[in-house]
Amino acid sequence: MCGIVGYIGNNNAVPVLIDGLKRLEYRGYDSAGITVYEESKLKTVKTVGRLAKLEEMLLVQPVAGVIGIGHTRWATHGRPSNRNAHPHNDCNKKFSVVHNGIIENFQELKEWLQEKGHIFNSETDTEVIPHLIEEFYQGDLLAAVKQALAKMEGAFAIVILCEEHKEQMVVARKASPLIIGIGQGENYVASDIPAVLPYTREIIILEDGEMAVVTAGSVTVTDFSGNIVAKKPFHVQWDVEAAEKGGYEDFMLKEIHEQPRAIRDTLTGKIDRQTKKVVLPQVNLSQEFINQLEKIHIVACGTAYHAGLVGKYLIEKLVRIPVEADLASEFRYRDPIVKENSLTIIISQSGETADTLAGLREAKRLGSRVLAITNVVGSSVAREADDLILTLAGPEIAVASTKAYTTQLLSLYLLAIYLGDARGTLAETDRISMIDALTEIDVQVEKVLNTETKIKEFAEDFKNCENIFFIGRGLDYAVSLEGSLKLKEISYIHAEAYAAGELKHGTLALIVEGVPVFALVTQGDLYDKMISNIKEVKAREATVVALAMAGDHETAKSVDYVLHIPKTHPLMTPILSVVPLQLFSYYAAKARGCDVDKPRNLAKSVTVE
Ligand code: AGP
Repeated sequence: MCGIVGYIGNNNAVPVLIDGLKRLEYRGYDSAGITVYEESKLKTVKTVGRLAKLEEMLLVQPVAGVIGIGHTRWATHGRPSNRNAHPHNDCNKKFSVVHNGIIENFQELKEWLQEKGHIFNSETDTEVIPHLIEEFYQGDLLAAVKQALAKMEGAFAIVILCEEHKEQMVVARKASPLIIGIGQGENYVASDIPAVLPYTREIIILEDGEMAVVTAGSVTVTDFSGNIVAKKPFHVQWDVEAAEKGGYEDFMLKEIHEQPRAIRDTLTGKIDRQTKKVVLPQVNLSQEFINQLEKIHIVACGTAYHAGLVGKYLIEKLVRIPVEADLASEFRYRDPIVKENSLTIIISQSGETADTLAGLREAKRLGSRVLAITNVVGSSVAREADDLILTLAGPEIAVASTKAYTTQLLSLYLLAIYLGDARGTLAETDRISMIDALTEIDVQVEKVLNTETKIKEFAEDFKNCENIFFIGRGLDYAVSLEGSLKLKEISYIHAEAYAAGELKHGTLALIVEGVPVFALVTQGDLYDKMISNIKEVKAREATVVALAMAGDHETAKSVDYVLHIPKTHPLMTPILSVVPLQLFSYYAAKARGCDVDKPRNLAKSVTVE
């Protein structure tokens, strides 16, 4: 996610902006820039690349002023480039804006503004903001900003400078964090607390629908209609490292809890609310191509591969095309049979995994069209694919992938619905019920996160186990694989996932008294089969923890513990059932004193074979 810093006071803003942006570098970015008010003009300096490059530019082309804004950009709309970097200005450079979030209706606003003669320089959604303000500005900055906010849909945290109002910054927040740091005769704004900690620990957190006029000596908070909102600053006790984790003990836990927001952001702009059809702006599959499709490949590694297995089930169910899911390290060397005009889905959080990238290139060499699902704009996978679905999870810092996995699943749901709709294999009523389920899944993930305390207790009970098994059928099997990987990669407990129907073909020999088995039993059509598999392991005195759908009171009769997930569309359960497994893995690892963010022997992005 992008980093925002603003300063207004009596000192030169530039060092404060650069220092603040450096404290937000952990959020990941691909370009950076600042605007300061100098000699009655707004001066903007920005560049693609790292902050060091911006600092070099400032040595050559210094600017200084007592009010300024800065930004580090994590590209979502428009590739990393100088002209896409923030801050963005209006036609006459009277306004300068930095933004974090997504303006969902930016295309429509951009066209409206262009019809009114506004000239745009970037591919970003953000650039509509200064032009909107310019369009409405008649001397009253606050009034113009309110009119602009009323036009904007989506998520935003914005900071605005105006050349004719050099004594103030105007800020606004909707669904994207923004804080105000209270100084002595100076004030700060930022997208996150670490940026201002060296200067102040008195913080005001803006809530959704709140805005503020910030001067060197005052902060006036209102709602978007102008009604005053009384805000009391709170004193931050955190140290800097804790602040980067948003108060969570580890990045992994923070990222597990970011999943509702990541899901909302990834869904933004991908569902037409009127028709309840899926919209994939960066996927350009023709109807003819979709009609002639006979085979789909899915190629990925690790967690991304486990997401691909869910995708296999979904696409075969909804699109009725055979799907082959491969581990990239196998695919690239097995001389795969990939026909021309097939579709290969490449899934990669980092977009730089060596095996996955090699799989992409092999598929292209064999004539397949490649669609990438990735979290990093401008990554090798994103650049080399023919089509793109971006997961807007924001940077994933912890080695163990969590929010990337659930947003990859979301992207696969959207793609399966899109293809099923295009091929006519998905009835409209089924499509609508799935879309309805998707639009509430973030709230349901929130509900699962609220069971965290109970899961933490489980984890502490099982922390000394040598072996833990995960079993499931169908989609539950695919999620079992992910649950097993999460547990073993951060707690170092030996964990294995098995198709429940496979137990009697060998693994049952390992099930003896007290061996913990997680049984995922969310798939109604496979319920009876799963219950008999649970009875198989119970007959060997295993300790069974079931993961079942809310309202299922039968399973409890056959197991030792039950964790429930909210009722949802049967095909959507993986997004929910993985969350207890993520939390279980996290707390088991914590109970064992493991470094959950940086597990031994592992790297976040495996860019070598
Ligand atoms: C996930 O928890 C693992 N750290 C790892 O398996 C990861 O999913 C895999 O390396 C693929 O990475 P990618 O999504 O960046 O390609």
